[in-house]
Amino acid sequence: MSDVQKVPDSPGTGILDVALIGSDEQRRKAVAAALLGRPGLALREFSSFPENLDDLPEMLGRHYDVFIVDLDSDPDYAFDLVEALCANDSTCVMVYSAQADMKQAIRFMRAGAREFFTLPLVPAEVAGALTRAAIRHPASRITPRLSSKRFVFLGAKGGCGVTAVASNFAVSLAQESSRSTLLIDLGLPLGDAAINLGMVTEYSTANALQDASRLDPSFLSTLLAKHSSGLSVLAAPGEFPSSQPSPDAFDKLLAVAQQSFEYVVVDAGSRVDLMGSTLFEESATIYLITQVGVSELRNSNRLISQFFATRGRSLQIVLNRYTPHALLFDDRQINKALTRPAQWKIPDDYATARRTKNTTTPFALEDSPISLAIRQMARAACGLPADKEKKKGFLFFS
Ligand SMILES: Nc1ncnc2c1ncn2[C@@H]1O[C@H](COP(=O)(O)OP(=O)(O)OP(=O)(O)O)[C@@H](O)[C@H]1O
Ligand SMILES: [Mg+2]
Repeated sequence: MSDVQKVPDSPGTGILDVALIGSDEQRRKAVAAALLGRPGLALREFSSFPENLDDLPEMLGRHYDVFIVDLDSDPDYAFDLVEALCANDSTCVMVYSAQADMKQAIRFMRAGAREFFTLPLVPAEVAGALTRAAIRHPASRITPRLSSKRFVFLGAKGGCGVTAVASNFAVSLAQESSRSTLLIDLGLPLGDAAINLGMVTEYSTANALQDASRLDPSFLSTLLAKHSSGLSVLAAPGEFPSSQPSPDAFDKLLAVAQQSFEYVVVDAGSRVDLMGSTLFEESATIYLITQVGVSELRNSNRLISQFFATRGRSLQIVLNRYTPHALLFDDRQINKALTRPAQWKIPDDYATARRTKNTTTPFALEDSPISLAIRQMARAACGLPADKEKKKGFLFFS
């Protein structure tokens, strides 16, 4: 046990009492250095674990709001310690390690740890973690309310292009808006949004949904992959899930995602079964992806009439693979089937779709007829004006 460092309170946040527990002095000092000098924080270092967990209250002596625990010297004992500390709902437990071991991170998150730091510490990560802990601190609890928006892409029929449009829209949205953006692939049984973006992912919606009660922004962040555009991606499982997650689990995932990200884009494939969940709630913007074909237009008509008749502008109809003047139907017939004109028309751009598939570079990152159309959708979604320069040559929206 060693130094106590105390710094002045910052207005409105209350003091956070932090206990730093780790037997390796070098690692512990590295963490302490990142904490010292932060406003509103009182730090106490402990240089060993208690002999056994029953000695824990005596060792601590009093209540702490935040525990930061070294897991490298004895991971199994650290796990038991974290579980014991997490038994008290009002404390926030964080762990650190010299290894970026994702399996270990998930194990500790499941035990209740809220943050997993890898050394050397990134100051912004520590700052973010302490801010989140301060928000939970009873003295200053406020409801975090981000002005998060959700964009849900639903296909009128399998193969309409939901994944191609949703994943490239998400890349464009992240780039055009420069805001934090998450793509969630709910496509079942095996969604391929990450593959469309040329990404290899380790974790998926299955990890998030199977233990939804423990899901929070920290746990979610360990499951995400980052695309070079800045987009975060929660991929679909690479294997057939053995059980169906409950609607509550989907609701929790969406709520946590919207706590963490300003924009959440969902590839819902053809998941009409989720119509009763909060996925399609009124505040979400739904993009119904369809094509000009008999069954696609018939399905669109049924979906719109049955589920979306009263949605106004929060339902946006997208005619994908649209080829003017080469259609079975004229615009009047299409509008009649869709009950309104489609807001967006994305050209049939086979050459780009094929090329980008082979190179695993999303077409949103190049200039092509299809990417320009999707960029207009993304700009409108985040309140930016249409990119007039690049609109020449194709009517992207009616
Ligand atoms: N506008 C377009 N121009 C050319 N090809 C396209 C276009 N949109 C999608 N495609 C191609 O159509 C195929 C099906 O697209 P995609 O996988 O996105 O459909 P989906 O609706 O997600 O299908 P699923 O129901 O299997 O999830 C892909 O090969 C894709 O590259
Ligand atoms: Mg798909």
